[in-house]
Amino acid sequence: MNHNYETLDLGLKKLWPLDPKIIFLNHGSFGACPTSVIEQQQTLRLEMEREPVRFLHRQLPERLESSRQQLALFLGVKPSNLVFVPNATHGVNTILHSIPWKTNDEIVISNQGYRACRNAVESIAQKHHLKIRTVKLPFPNITPMLVVEKVIEALSPLTRLVLLDHITSGTGLILPIKEISRELAKRDIDFLVDGAHSAGSIAVNLEDLGVTYYTTNAHKWLCAPKGAACLYVANHRIEQVRPLCISHAPSLASEPSQLFKMSFDWTGTYDPTAYLMIPYAINYLSSLMVGGWSTIFQRNRQLAHQGRDLLCKTLEIEVPCPDEMFATLATIPLPLKIDAPPPEIHPLQERLFDRWNIEIPIIPNPQMGCYMIRLSAFVYNHLEEYQRLSESLHQELRKDFSH
Ligand SMILES: Cc1ncc(COP(=O)(O)O)c(C=O)c1O
Repeated sequence: MNHNYETLDLGLKKLWPLDPKIIFLNHGSFGACPTSVIEQQQTLRLEMEREPVRFLHRQLPERLESSRQQLALFLGVKPSNLVFVPNATHGVNTILHSIPWKTNDEIVISNQGYRACRNAVESIAQKHHLKIRTVKLPFPNITPMLVVEKVIEALSPLTRLVLLDHITSGTGLILPIKEISRELAKRDIDFLVDGAHSAGSIAVNLEDLGVTYYTTNAHKWLCAPKGAACLYVANHRIEQVRPLCISHAPSLASEPSQLFKMSFDWTGTYDPTAYLMIPYAINYLSSLMVGGWSTIFQRNRQLAHQGRDLLCKTLEIEVPCPDEMFATLATIPLPLKIDAPPPEIHPLQERLFDRWNIEIPIIPNPQMGCYMIRLSAFVYNHLEEYQRLSESLHQELRKDFSH
């Protein structure tokens, strides 16, 4: 059965190529790019193909620099500390492969870290004989203070690196990065932050956070085309960090300070238009709401809170985390036990999509032994969409998915 709802007031959704029949509550997985950004990127691509040598050889360094400067301004950091990478997974892998590890060094991660990045840590640990310590962060019943305490407890004299998400992928929790950063700096421990979800979701000021390394996607909440992310490296580690793929830069850079930027700007022939589109995407989004990004941050956060509260009321459960710990991603535990190895896509997720036209992820939480639902709130979403989600979830859980 397919519920064909009367058309919702699409509002800003018309500015995205998103299927108008689908209630899209999963901006978190891959972002969603506005039509205008896609068209502008296409114009750039045509320009590149009209004279590839002019575009990629003569003009690219300056164009990348201009894009970097505007992104750096948005993230509160100096452009000389920022390079482009295709995605946050690359950003994390780049740092893991740049550190001159010593046998028995320890890496601290959390149980709520992104699976791909945990795999990257396991791979590097195996190669260099490192020890991984996993901090167990509870969900629900979590507070920023508890996170700081748990991370400190996991440190040892051998800790070389701490890797944490700024906003956790499955649970959407904003971790207290600045407070942890302060504690790690006292102990001279490097801090790599996976901010895959941060830029465009919350205000980020990298200088203020004081971390050693930080990666964030521009293709999620900043709505740049796919394949646009960046990596921040603090001054004292710039000489150590190199891309995963070495190309011409070591033969061309005349000073070490140039090498960092040049190495990342060219890692072999590629399509740089996603990086070049970042400033356009930032300005385009900002133009959609009076007050620009600060309104967007506030509005989306409020919407996610309303959506979460609605679902918690429907499910008759307490809110799972304090309000200050989430922004545009909100995760709510479901009364659905994990009683077999979790499928890649849960049948309830498929049911919500097939029957109710709602795109939203259902995520296993092995620690709690149950599944969770994670909603996104972005500029094209409306409260009515969460009301429809709430109704459909209520019906599905009462029927086929009741335990
Ligand atoms: C915390 C975290 N890190 C990394 C990623 C991966 O992002 P990407 O696929 O753009 O590398 C995600 C994706 O959602 C994430 O949530």
